[in-house]
Amino acid sequence: MQKKKNNSLQLLGGLAPETFLADYWQKKPLLIKNAISDFAGLLTPDELAGLACEDAVQSRIVKYKKGQWYADQGPFDEDDFANLPEKPTVDNNWTLLVQSVNHHLPEGAALLQQFDFIPHARLDDLMVSYAPNGGGVGPHFDSYDVFLLQGQGKRLWRISEQTDLSLVDGAPLRILQHFDTSQEWLLEAGDMLYLPPHLAHWGIAVSDGDDDCMTYSIGFRAPKNQELATEFLGFMQDQLNQDKLVLNGIYQDADLQLQDHAAEIGKEMIAKVSANLQKIKWSNEAIAEFLGTYLSEPKADVVFEPNKKMAMRNFTEKLAKIGIALDLKSQMLFSTDNFYLNGEVTTWVGEPANILTKLADQRYIEARNIQDAPLLQQLYDWYIAGYLSFDS
Ligand code: SIN
Ligand code: CO
Repeated sequence: MQKKKNNSLQLLGGLAPETFLADYWQKKPLLIKNAISDFAGLLTPDELAGLACEDAVQSRIVKYKKGQWYADQGPFDEDDFANLPEKPTVDNNWTLLVQSVNHHLPEGAALLQQFDFIPHARLDDLMVSYAPNGGGVGPHFDSYDVFLLQGQGKRLWRISEQTDLSLVDGAPLRILQHFDTSQEWLLEAGDMLYLPPHLAHWGIAVSDGDDDCMTYSIGFRAPKNQELATEFLGFMQDQLNQDKLVLNGIYQDADLQLQDHAAEIGKEMIAKVSANLQKIKWSNEAIAEFLGTYLSEPKADVVFEPNKKMAMRNFTEKLAKIGIALDLKSQMLFSTDNFYLNGEVTTWVGEPANILTKLADQRYIEARNIQDAPLLQQLYDWYIAGYLSFDS
């Protein structure tokens, strides 16, 4: 526990995580010089471009040319990169953005783990951008909390306290029509800027040609209330279909009175249906189950590769020797006895629950002394499904 605190202290520029949460989180920006000492980045520009050429990776190239914005979706190939302007100018530049780098790079997952003073349930992904001098995605705001960690090169960040958040019509990405700079900072390798949602910002790559700019965005999702409501109603519908809600019987109107208009939906009918629907109730346990399954559900483009059959005996031996980790793409959460892994729920108590709590918190467990046969079987099943890995 002490170790976690010390790590967070440097990452937050000496602030205790509690102070950061109380004074800055979701409230105001924070610039942290030297958040990670000697941070040289996690991958080279070529490696990032390589990722952007893979089918399973979400990437974009944003271009700015003569006052117009363009956005192309990956996967890309060598020609796409060869056709980019060799000598970008203020009027003709570009940036490459690669999402969910933590799903492909163990170092990316390890970097996110340093931010575990924020609950995993809020985590979105690690996005990495690359831009030559002058490149960027323009002035905009995001709907999530983000830590912008500078890798190689430099980036000039401008923020604005403006309340006018109107966007340029018809642009392929969200660009603010106006931007009034309130503050600006030049971030160098290892510096980090925290921004709460809806704060207007504008990052411009600054490079003398040697070290083009790479920025690591550690993003935390802040779901829209409407999205949560829609998803929750879907969850409730499943509960209804599985007869988990008490709504028995059929509509009854033994007390039906003669109406003046046969076509009118009478007040009595409305009142009876209303009384029935108000029987739909949910407990905090149901909300926890909804959140656990929804927030641990993999994004639509995530595919798990099942592991080749390994005999249970070999699995158990390897497990005892080197422990096991969540696959880079896995998301695990828990609430009381329920453990949610990639949208699926299982219930555990006692020592197995302690072990799974560690796995969910740290994404890795040493597993020398696991004796519990059902837990071993569960770990084995998750491993075969590709949810756990010996290599991540
Ligand atoms: C970038 O890394 O270029 C953009 C990050 C952001 O503005 O959210
Ligand atoms: Co942004």
